[in-house]
Amino acid sequence: MRCDTVWYNAHLMTLDAAGNGLGVIRDGVVASVQGHIVHVGPASAAPVFAADERIDCNGRWISPGLIDCHTHLVYAGNRAGEFEQRLQGASYADIARAGGGIVSTVRATRAASEAELLAASLPRLDAMLAEGVTTLEIKSGYGLTLVDEAKQLHVARQLGQLRKVEVVRTFLGAHAIPPGRDGQDYIDEVCQVMIPAIAAQALAEAVDVFCENIAFSPAQAQQVFEAAQRHGLAIKIHAEQLSNQHGAELAARFGALSADHVEHLDDAGIAAMRTAGTTAVLLPGAFYFTRDTTLPPIGKLREAGVALALATDSNPGTSPLTSPLLAMNMAATLFRMTVDECIAGFTREAARALGRHGRIGRLATGLECNLAIWNIEAPADLVYRMGFNPLHARVFRGEPAP
Ligand code: NIG
Ligand code: FE
Repeated sequence: MRCDTVWYNAHLMTLDAAGNGLGVIRDGVVASVQGHIVHVGPASAAPVFAADERIDCNGRWISPGLIDCHTHLVYAGNRAGEFEQRLQGASYADIARAGGGIVSTVRATRAASEAELLAASLPRLDAMLAEGVTTLEIKSGYGLTLVDEAKQLHVARQLGQLRKVEVVRTFLGAHAIPPGRDGQDYIDEVCQVMIPAIAAQALAEAVDVFCENIAFSPAQAQQVFEAAQRHGLAIKIHAEQLSNQHGAELAARFGALSADHVEHLDDAGIAAMRTAGTTAVLLPGAFYFTRDTTLPPIGKLREAGVALALATDSNPGTSPLTSPLLAMNMAATLFRMTVDECIAGFTREAARALGRHGRIGRLATGLECNLAIWNIEAPADLVYRMGFNPLHARVFRGEPAP
């Protein structure tokens, strides 16, 4: 069999077995042609390869490249001062109501040039890549005017051009009420002006809404979803993070790709998500950093067969986290998710949350050849250690990606 590259002498987490396991193949091989996987399987059953390049993995493990399916990576400024206020006892909601929180990042992001935003965001992206990320989603939401939201989305695109990584862009105009604006008036502008423009310029492929008592109501979220559908954008939601607004249920009725956070999700929400095939994106970094105590209903979601993805939620306010590996550890420790669920949450299930299940997130013939090669003895090592990075190499679309 002719191929561009073959990786051999490796153990594989294919994430492609029947059931929900890791699909482990000991002593396996992966082969690629033009950035796509053309063969995955045990060495004992492999064809003879005529390969341009043969890479001996020396017994390392290969997983699909990691996918961070929920980040707010592009922003300016930082909120360390607010962190200190929280250490003195102020809550996230108190700070937001007093004009801090998201709105303070909006001020800094509006004031930054595109070049400054890019320079501020690149080290955060590089931290993700260093841990094997090959795809990440980046939301806008710190501009809250068409020009400033577009600026964030342009920077997100540039990040994807500067590094070997796929950046998926989501328009989160409905993240917070801009200072000095009426919430309903702003949502009308999001729906009538911003979404049509974002879609026409192909600046994002999905919309997201922060549906919460300190942000937008379910009725306003519905308005955004209707506008998104009119303009062919996919739907995501920040739902049930601080209270139960029934946002996940609403989003599921619109065929949402994912409902994210979902700490306060109820049974009706779970049922709606199952029916619609909406993925739950769990964000243990935000849970940890805000010292949340309401656990997402993981057992019930699992029982219902709702797909469970994980993400860093990388943002300056509630999750200043750029480590998918630490997020996996937090998901295991705080949410009692299994090792298999944690790894699947950053690969196969994250691909689902981005509508890319058929393209990335597994080691399977026909999928893009995005790989993370690890210096570990067993898959559990990825989840178990804290603050340690065992990545050996990253491969993006068949190419080594330093
Ligand atoms: O995902 N919940 C809303 N958005 C972010 C927080 C953003 C911020 O505080 O800057 C989140 O937690
Ligand atoms: Fe978020």
